[in-house]
Amino acid sequence: MKFFADTADTDAIRELAATGLVDGVTTNPSLIQKSGRDILEVTKEICGIVDGPVSAEVVATDHETMMKEAEVLRKIADNIAIKVPLTVDGLKTCKKLTDDGTMVNVTLCFTANQALLAGKAGASFISPFVGRHDDIGYDGMNLISDIRLIYDNYDFRTEILVASVRHPIHILESAKLGADVATMPPDVILKLFNHPLTASGLEAFLSDWEKTGQTIG
Ligand code: E4P
Repeated sequence: MKFFADTADTDAIRELAATGLVDGVTTNPSLIQKSGRDILEVTKEICGIVDGPVSAEVVATDHETMMKEAEVLRKIADNIAIKVPLTVDGLKTCKKLTDDGTMVNVTLCFTANQALLAGKAGASFISPFVGRHDDIGYDGMNLISDIRLIYDNYDFRTEILVASVRHPIHILESAKLGADVATMPPDVILKLFNHPLTASGLEAFLSDWEKTGQTIG
């Protein structure tokens, strides 16, 4: 399963990229706003940090203007994936862009039928928002298993990119269900490393090692 960083914070992306575990980045208008930076400038910087897909989202709601915005965004770098909302105009834009060989991430997916539409529109990635589903009392992970089943039934190439991730259980479940990608806020990626027994075990090993008086090398 690929790991994407769900942030436009370039310091955090650089730090995570150094672990070798970051396969791509997703941004959205809210994350750009949070960064306080110009979308073109910050996205270009992100594309220089990671080799994998970097999602940059259009903000128009009509097909023609989405295409114009996509033109601007895709010129930023070769690894840009244009992010479009799951609307009629968004999927029209998706079809046009993917027919031209541009990567497209279809966002704001909340049903498996919507994911079916995105698959038919040739999306490179579908972004089901699991956390926002949980927020309103549904089990967001059901969406992932339904989409996996449907995409496998028909051999869709669209990658399932689990979005709106809130905690490590979302990652565990995504991996068990065979999601292709999970995009995570930096703090969730860091939480995956943690276990109290790892920390206390390491502390005990180091303390015993010190008593040996030895060094390695
Ligand atoms: C990423 O592509 C999505 O925009 C993001 O994961 C949404 O997350 P949120 O529900 O925490 O805003």
